[in-house]
Amino acid sequence: MANETNRFQAIISHCKEYGFIFPSSEIYDGLQAVYDYGQWGSELKKNIKDYWWNSMTRMYENIVGIDAAIFMHPTTWKASGHVDNFNDPMIDNKDSKKRYRVDHLIEGYAEMLNAEGRKQEAEQILAGMDSLLAKDDFTGLKKLIEENKIKCPISGTSNWTDIRQFNLMFSTEFGSTVSADDEDNKVYLRPETAQGIFVNFLNVQKSGRMKIPFGIAQIGKAFRNEIVARQFIFRMREFEQMEMQFFIRPGTQKDWYEYWKEERLKWHLALGIPKENYRFHDHIKLAHYADAACDIEFNFPIGFKELEGIHSRTDFDLKNHQEYSKKKMQYYDAEVDPATGKPYGNYIPYVIETSIGLDRMFLAVVSHAYTEEDLSTPEKKDDRVVLKFPPKLAPMKLAVLPLIKKDGLPEIARQIMDDCKSHFRCFYEEKDTIGKRYRRMDAIGTPFCVTVDHQTKEDNTVTIRYRDTMKQDRVPVTEIRKIVLDSL
Ligand code: GAP
Repeated sequence: MANETNRFQAIISHCKEYGFIFPSSEIYDGLQAVYDYGQWGSELKKNIKDYWWNSMTRMYENIVGIDAAIFMHPTTWKASGHVDNFNDPMIDNKDSKKRYRVDHLIEGYAEMLNAEGRKQEAEQILAGMDSLLAKDDFTGLKKLIEENKIKCPISGTSNWTDIRQFNLMFSTEFGSTVSADDEDNKVYLRPETAQGIFVNFLNVQKSGRMKIPFGIAQIGKAFRNEIVARQFIFRMREFEQMEMQFFIRPGTQKDWYEYWKEERLKWHLALGIPKENYRFHDHIKLAHYADAACDIEFNFPIGFKELEGIHSRTDFDLKNHQEYSKKKMQYYDAEVDPATGKPYGNYIPYVIETSIGLDRMFLAVVSHAYTEEDLSTPEKKDDRVVLKFPPKLAPMKLAVLPLIKKDGLPEIARQIMDDCKSHFRCFYEEKDTIGKRYRRMDAIGTPFCVTVDHQTKEDNTVTIRYRDTMKQDRVPVTEIRKIVLDSL
């Protein structure tokens, strides 16, 4: 059984062993901070996407979705500020030649202090770091590293370079005539999906006859050349975002910001994960586009960390796209302003953004679901690992298990499969003892197993076994579908 300190490691191993996540191109020893989702991981990921997408585009009647390309015109990234500002302060260790993001290096040190029970010191260092980062005070940050004798985890020395800024965007060549060295023609792999929404703002608004306030949602890949990327799928170089830009009248941003903070927390809590696992963290150092921002942090096995960002992005993006593209990014608001008695007229909308990492949400769901249970009795030692996913996210909803491979039981089980598989994901298995099959289903988080036995032939009932309680009931075959659908 894993204790708290190696719980994260146990989750990573479980994800690999049971087909959730594999290191990318593992046969070549993998590629750092890039991962592949396996047979059950891809199902879980898709269910999380659907949960987000359906919530955004069905529950809010004024939000529509789009699917923009990953490549965008290079000027997009000048207008958005990413070419000039999407930098992180980095520091190199001269002995190991390893490069670190300054905030991650200091956070790592604070975590170590926390683990040693030196909570107050850790908090002081983090508060100091936040205020220095907010002022871009690199001299002060280096001093903080030196004064605390923070060491490189590889070389174990404090032989640091000065702190410098590095851009996090990946770039490549487009077609055959453009050189990647040509600053004007570089194409970037998008570092956020949001810009695909901004550049399509008027296309969607006009073609969809959308009226402010309205939102545009998108799920898609994003790429960042993260320097310190060693926390499994928490920080990846290729990842997915689920972002929604909500276009509003200027001056109303404070109210909408509060509204979306609340709405997004409700979305998380609706999954049934207890509230104490979430907290808000207000940003002190604001991104180049924001006038207010906070994170929803989740209690991961590596501590409370950012899961989702909520940003009041002002009119920064649309205004800059208007300037760089020379195309109007304005909206005509026909509603009458009670203060003037006249329509609000033309303006560039303000934007509230909600942005959640799909992979981080995956990690949050898996790490909350991962449970090790000691089932020992005085007679026998026993344990199990069970993933207690909310049923609507579980990769597999129902396992149909004939007790033995003969006497007509597989045929009945197949009929149950036929009755259910077009409604939700089902799994059929007849190999091994029923106990082993239950445990395999626990390990991938299947909420219901039904066993077809000889009694089924007599009274058309099956044993249904509930994953979390392991309780077993006898239910009519005709009710199985409803029981599972009700849980979803
Ligand atoms: N459009 C705003 C934006 O991109 P962000 O805070 O940089 O804001 C939003 O990213 C979310 O994307 C984060 O809260 C996190 O969940 C996810 N994310 C960011 N970088 C990531 C990475 N390297 N690996 C995995 N997820 C990441």
